[in-house]
Amino acid sequence: MSSTVKAVILVGGQGTRLRPLTCNTPKSMVPVLNIPFLEHVLRNLKAHDITDIILAQHHLPAPMLQYFGDGARFGVHLTYVMEDSPRGSAGAVKNAEKYLKNTFLVLNGDIFHNRDFTDMLAFHRRNHAKATIDLAPVEDPTIYGMVDTDEQCRVKRFIEKPKREDVTTNLINAGTWIIEPEVLQRILPDVKCSFEREIFPSLIHDGEPLYAYPSYRYWMDMGTPEKYLQLHRDLLDDKCEGYPSDRNVIKGKNCRIHPTAKLSGKIVLGDNCTVAAGAKITGPVVLGSGCRIGRRVVIEDSVLWDNVKVRARAVLRSSVIANDCAIGAEVYLRDAVLGDHIRLPTGSKPETGVRLFPEEMSGNT
Ligand code: GTP
Repeated sequence: MSSTVKAVILVGGQGTRLRPLTCNTPKSMVPVLNIPFLEHVLRNLKAHDITDIILAQHHLPAPMLQYFGDGARFGVHLTYVMEDSPRGSAGAVKNAEKYLKNTFLVLNGDIFHNRDFTDMLAFHRRNHAKATIDLAPVEDPTIYGMVDTDEQCRVKRFIEKPKREDVTTNLINAGTWIIEPEVLQRILPDVKCSFEREIFPSLIHDGEPLYAYPSYRYWMDMGTPEKYLQLHRDLLDDKCEGYPSDRNVIKGKNCRIHPTAKLSGKIVLGDNCTVAAGAKITGPVVLGSGCRIGRRVVIEDSVLWDNVKVRARAVLRSSVIANDCAIGAEVYLRDAVLGDHIRLPTGSKPETGVRLFPEEMSGNT
């Protein structure tokens, strides 16, 4: 039987830092190892028997509804709640209040992790907490929300993006919270409001039991293209428990790889990919379905989405290429991020780190 604990996933953000990848694709639908990011989150919740899930939407809602429907195909039950204007983390949850009568989880829809929700819920209940914040260690807490606790893990201070001199711990708010429904009374309806900046500090101020649950499991906020690529490196490098890959090359259906093509390192190929003679693919590399890799192409440390064509002798290093792009022969890309449908003409060598937005560049390939 599934648990009575529901989860709200915040999936309404614009994902501006992940552009151009998020120009047509909501951040939560960006593929991770060839399946939408959100599908990984649903699988993780389901593994902990949390199957009643609310998606708090605003920006680009349609692709999620289209792909996940009512959730039955994924063994969960999904409810979609829409904001007419972005309400921030607390405002978005307030908008779903009528579904939240018991203890519930809130998850950011852009943080990849394999948290032990069962253990976190037990921790929350043991402490009779009004809210529990999942903590993760980071190298630089100044770009996150730092959380200071006492020895019993009760939260003393909550500082969003602390100044360097205020840093006292490397543990930060990791974007998963357990909340009691009465906390929602603190949030005004129909206004923008943040748990991190307003509601959690107000709980501390009023002496309410706010606890922190430190976890040292894998965690990655995939909010930028650099982190998105790092997430793939980590998953393929077995850094996240639950994502073991005992085979170096994982192939989808109907892939055709020329016998003189060299594939080494960890590589994931979607369905119907072709790799031509003399191509050299060195993992970590992910190719979406329908990718066509030409003769003597070199691809290293990169993620390609669906239906990307790479013509002969092009070189792609540490790059992310979105759907339906066509990379001309002898193109050289390094640290590049291309949105959907970009066509790069033969021989073009955009500067290192280029970001190309849909319809920004065209040519014959
Ligand atoms: P950036 O524009 O790059 O900062 O990304 P973002 O818009 O996704 O913002 P941020 O990374 O702070 O969001 C964290 C999570 O909350 C993401 O999963 C967002 O989709 C989600 N989110 C952010 N703002 C809102 C909002 O106003 N409403 C809802 N429903 N979700 C939101």
